Amino acid sequence: VVLRSARYQLATLPTPVQRAERLERRLGCGPILVKRDDLTGFAAAGNKARPLEYLVGAALARGCDVLVTGGGPGSNFCSATAIAAAVAGLDCELVIAGVALPEPLPPNVALARAAGATVHLSGDDDREAVDAAVERLGAGLRTAGRRPFVLPRGGSTATGAFGFAVAAAELADQLAGWSGVLDGRRLTVVLPVGSGASCAGLLAGMASLGQHPWHLLGVSVSRPLAEIDARVRCLAADCAAEAGLPPPVAHDLELVDGRGAGFAAPSEANLDDARSALRSEGWLLDPTYTMKAFSVLVRRVHEDPETPVLFWHTGGVVAAVLGARPSLPSTTGTA
Ligand SMILES: Cc1ncc(COP(=O)(O)O)c(C=O)c1O
Repeated sequence: VVLRSARYQLATLPTPVQRAERLERRLGCGPILVKRDDLTGFAAAGNKARPLEYLVGAALARGCDVLVTGGGPGSNFCSATAIAAAVAGLDCELVIAGVALPEPLPPNVALARAAGATVHLSGDDDREAVDAAVERLGAGLRTAGRRPFVLPRGGSTATGAFGFAVAAAELADQLAGWSGVLDGRRLTVVLPVGSGASCAGLLAGMASLGQHPWHLLGVSVSRPLAEIDARVRCLAADCAAEAGLPPPVAHDLELVDGRGAGFAAPSEANLDDARSALRSEGWLLDPTYTMKAFSVLVRRVHEDPETPVLFWHTGGVVAAVLGARPSLPSTTGTA
């Protein structure tokens, strides 16, 4: 991978790849590997530490002084951005979807405030309205003489996705050590897809790794399939073009709808599967992202127990431990 963008180091990389043999026995299937991006080691940022390294790097390179972004009240990206800004010596202003903040504060909002971020409300429960509010906030700051670096929800820009293009190379290196377990069989890599930046970056990074290194299975947790499909492919192409990578290979990606009962709403099956993961491997799965992707993985290995799978554990640990409580306000729209 050609490193065109500046990296501001936040994560401890590479994150481990492990084999989940207790889970394999529980589910009665072939090798299950896990990529532990819940262990990126920067606050509770999980997968979001990767895009933020390049987004913060770009903000610093451009002489910006404040990161501006937004999301729902449960957004891991917002808290991760606030903490990344603080350590990099930048200010942070966030737009949170909704008309009021509940007490006690949702854990990710409380974390963002603790890191020193200024929190604004969008005045609208629809998460999609956040994007325009973030742009307005950025424009206002610019008029006031600040130098804002404005990020869409999830950090889903070509630069943000680049963090996961690098992660594709990281995984490929690690998989070389698992060739005995994979035994020539093609791996299916399963990950949750919200804004699409992580999946797009992986798709972009895969193209420079030779012949179809794995089958990428993205589980949409927020957006309808047609919308997320177009979004991921477009972002992957932009990321590849910006980074000087070969164009992404379309058929290396399969997207499925994992929204089930709705955004951040786990079904009984999701909760059962998450209990299996907890009791066999000690994984903390959150109700918005990782639970949904993990349930798709469980269904896949039931249908096809021979194909090796890798679960990209993207984190979401704050919600897994604290946020899955009824007081979290519900919002509409997409991640
Ligand atoms: C824990 C977790 N997993 C997965 C995702 C989805 O990543 P992306 O927005 O890059 O699709 C997020 C997004 O915030 C997340 O917090």
